[in-house]
Amino acid sequence: MASNTVRSHPVYAACYDRFNAYAERSWLGAARRRIAGLARGTLLEIGAGTGANLPYYQGIDEVIACEPDPAYRRRLARRVPEARVAVRMVDAAAESLPVPDGSVDTVVSTLTMCSVDDPATVAAELARILRPDGQILLFEHIRTDRGRLPRLLQTLAIPVWYCFAGGCRLNRPTLDTLRVAGFEVSVLETLYAPHTPRVMYPFVTAVVTPRPNRAAPEAA
Ligand SMILES: C[S@@+](CC[C@H](N)C(=O)[O-])C[C@H]1O[C@@H](n2cnc3c(N)ncnc32)[C@H](O)[C@@H]1O
Repeated sequence: MASNTVRSHPVYAACYDRFNAYAERSWLGAARRRIAGLARGTLLEIGAGTGANLPYYQGIDEVIACEPDPAYRRRLARRVPEARVAVRMVDAAAESLPVPDGSVDTVVSTLTMCSVDDPATVAAELARILRPDGQILLFEHIRTDRGRLPRLLQTLAIPVWYCFAGGCRLNRPTLDTLRVAGFEVSVLETLYAPHTPRVMYPFVTAVVTPRPNRAAPEAA
C-alpha cells in the first residue's frame, strides 16, 4: 500500500503527545524503555508517530523510522536530532516497506497494529523484511480476553473511537494475526493500565519471532 493512501489524522497527531503525557510518565514510558532494551542491530519501526520511542534507543546500528502520515512525520522530524542513535526517517506504510528481504534485525511496533489498514498484509511484510533470527517487539492493545460483555463494549465503541483516536481499532487480534503469518509469540507482560479507558484493555508486551522452518521430509 502506498503511504499516500493511508488516511492522515492531523488533529490527533497534533494532540498526541499531550494526550499521552500522563500515561508516558506513569506506565507507557516504562513499556517503551523495556521494548528499546530488547532491541538490537538494524531496527525498523512501523508507525513511528511523533518519535516517542526515539529517546529510549541506545546501542542500535540504525533506526529506520517509517511513518506514512505527514502530520506525524513533521513531529517525528523534530525529535530525530535528539536521538542517541542514527535515525533514517522514511515515508512508508507498514503494508509496503521499502527495505530488502531479510535485512532487518528488529521491528518495533508500539500502538501501531491497531491503526494499520491491513494487519495480515503487514504481518506478511514483516515476515519478508526480517532476518531469520530477527524479532518483532510489540507493545499493543488487543482484543479483550475478558468475556462477552467487554468484547461487545469494545466492538460497540469502535466507530466513535476510530474517529477520535486517530483511526485506532480497539478489537484487533494482533497476536493471532502474527501467529497465522508464521510467527511464534512470547508474551512478556499483559497490562491493564491505570487511568486508561477499559475498552483499550489489555495491553501486551511481546517478543515475536519467525517460526523455524520444519525440517524437510526425508526422501523415500
Ligand atoms: C496511535 S499512533 C502510535 C504512534 C507510535 N507508534 C507510538 O508508539 O506512539 C498510530 C500510528 O500508526 C500510524 N499508521 C496508521 N496507518 C499505518 C499504516 N498503514 N502503516 C504504518 N503506520 C500506520 C499512524 O500514522 C500513527 O503514527
